[in-house]
Amino acid sequence: QILILDFGSQYTQLIARRVRELNVYCEIHPYNNIPAITPDVKGIILSGSPCSVRDTDAPMVDLSRFRQHFPVLGVCYGAQLLAQTSGGEVKASSIREYGRAKLGTVETTNRLMQGIDPHSQVWMSHADTITQVPDSFHIIASTETVRVAAFQVSGEETYGIQFHPEVTHSLQGKQLLHNFVVDVCGCKQDWTADSFVDSTVADLKAKLGNDKVVMALSGGVDSSVAAMLVHRAIGQNLYCIFVDNGLLRKDEFASVLESYRTLGLNIKGVDAKEQFYTALAGLTDPEAKRKAIGKTFIDVFDQEAHLLEDVVWLGQGTIYPDVIESVSVKGPSATIKSHHNVGGLPDFMKLKVVEPLNTLFKDEVRAVGRSLGLPQNILGRHPFPGPGLAIRILGDITPEKVAILQEVDYLFIDGLRRYGLYDQVWQAGAMLLPIQSVGVMGDERTYERVVALRAVTSVDGMTADWAHLPYEFLADISNEIINRVKGVNRVVYDISSKPPATIEWE
Ligand code: XMP
Repeated sequence: QILILDFGSQYTQLIARRVRELNVYCEIHPYNNIPAITPDVKGIILSGSPCSVRDTDAPMVDLSRFRQHFPVLGVCYGAQLLAQTSGGEVKASSIREYGRAKLGTVETTNRLMQGIDPHSQVWMSHADTITQVPDSFHIIASTETVRVAAFQVSGEETYGIQFHPEVTHSLQGKQLLHNFVVDVCGCKQDWTADSFVDSTVADLKAKLGNDKVVMALSGGVDSSVAAMLVHRAIGQNLYCIFVDNGLLRKDEFASVLESYRTLGLNIKGVDAKEQFYTALAGLTDPEAKRKAIGKTFIDVFDQEAHLLEDVVWLGQGTIYPDVIESVSVKGPSATIKSHHNVGGLPDFMKLKVVEPLNTLFKDEVRAVGRSLGLPQNILGRHPFPGPGLAIRILGDITPEKVAILQEVDYLFIDGLRRYGLYDQVWQAGAMLLPIQSVGVMGDERTYERVVALRAVTSVDGMTADWAHLPYEFLADISNEIINRVKGVNRVVYDISSKPPATIEWE
C-alpha cells in the first residue's frame, strides 16, 4: 500500500482516490499522527498544505524516517518541504500561481516522467515557490514561470512536484501517479472490489468468530453494503433491524424489507410510526425535530436490541470520508457523522463497533455492493436524510402531511425514472411548504398547499447545483401533482445552488 501523509490540503482525499483508481490500496494519515509503518507500505506521498514551509509553526515531519527507506513523492507543499529541509530555498512567488499551466521541458527518461508530454497541461495552486535546490536535486520538469516544477534527489527514489497530479485538470496526472506508484514503488495493481470483499470477509470471520452482531439498516447504500459483508462472514448471527419511522417514502418500508429478505438477511422490520409521530407532535424547529427523531430512534433500537441475547457488536456503515474528517489535521470535527444512520450509540449499550466500510470512498462502496450482488434499486438509490420527510415538511409534522408529501414525492421520483432523469441527478425530493395559495379548479376557487420540488447535481453533497431539468418534464410533473394529490394546488421548482442555500429546506 501507499501511505499518504496529510498536511491539510483540500486535495489530499483526491490523491487517495487517484491511487485507488490505479487499483492500489492507500491510506491517508495526518502528518502529526502517523501509525506504525507496516511491511506492506511500498511508498510515501507527502500532500500539499494551506501552510507555508516558511512559517515558524509549519507542519513538519522527520523525513529521515522515510527518505532512503521508501520511495517518497512530495506534492506542492510536500515538494517544498523536501527542498527546504535539504538546504534549498523556498520563497513567496512574485506572482501567485493558481490554475492551468503548461510544462515546458520534461526529462522523459526519468522514471517519474515517463510518457509525460513535454507540453502537458498541469494544475498549479501555490503561493510559495522553490527558488533554489541543492546540487543533489536534479530538475526533471519546468514550466515557463516555475523552474523547479519537478525534481528527483540523485541516488534516491525521492521526488517532488510543484503541480497537483491528483486534480483532473492536470491532464496526465494519473500517468504520473501511475509512474510513481507502480513503476517506482512497485505496487501490484490488485486491489479491486472483489479482492476487498474476499479479504474483508476473511477478516470479519476472524474478528467476529461466533459473536452476534446487530445492525440498523436504513435502505441506503452504506448500511446495506456493510450488512452484506458482515452477513457473508457470519450469516444468521447478524441481526438486522429496519425501523419504519413513518417518515420514509411511499411504500419504501415494505419494498426495502422485501429486498433485504431476498438477499437472505436476517432482518426484522419494526413499525414505530406512532412512537415517532408522538415524539414529533407540535415541534416546529428543525433541530428540535432532528433531536426528537434521533432520540426516538435510539429508544426503538435499544428496545429491539435488548430482545436479542448475547449481542456483542454493533455494525455500522461508516465510510472513509467520515473517518478522515474525524482524525483530520484540523482536529476532530465538531459534528460526528459516523452515527448518522443510528443517531449515536448510547453508552449503556456497551457494544463493540464493527465498521467494514471505514476505508472506502462512496464510489468504492457501490463497486463492492455490485460485487456482492446487491440490486440496482439499492445501489443506485439517491441519498435520503436520516430524519426523512420530517425535514421536508416545514413546520410541525402530522400523519396527514406525511401522506400528502409521500404522494407528491412518489410522482416526482417516478417521473424522473420514467423520463430517464433519475440517474442524472444526485438527489431529488419535494418539500411541503407551510403556506397556502389561491388557485382555481373548474369553477371553484381553491386555497391549498404549495409544494417545492428540489433536484440537484453534486459529487458529494458538500456543494450542489440545481438540476436543469427539462421544462416539458417539469410541466408534466406539475400537472400530475396538482391533478392527483388532493390538497395541493401549486408546484414551484427550487433553483438555488448550495452554497448559499442547502439541499434540504430545514
Ligand atoms: P444539506 O441540506 O445540508 O444536506 O445541504 C446535505 C446532504 O445531507 C443530507 N442531510 C442529512 N442526512 N441526517 C442525515 O442523515 C440529517 O439530519 C441530514 N440533513 C441533511 C441531505 O439529504 C443531503 O444529502
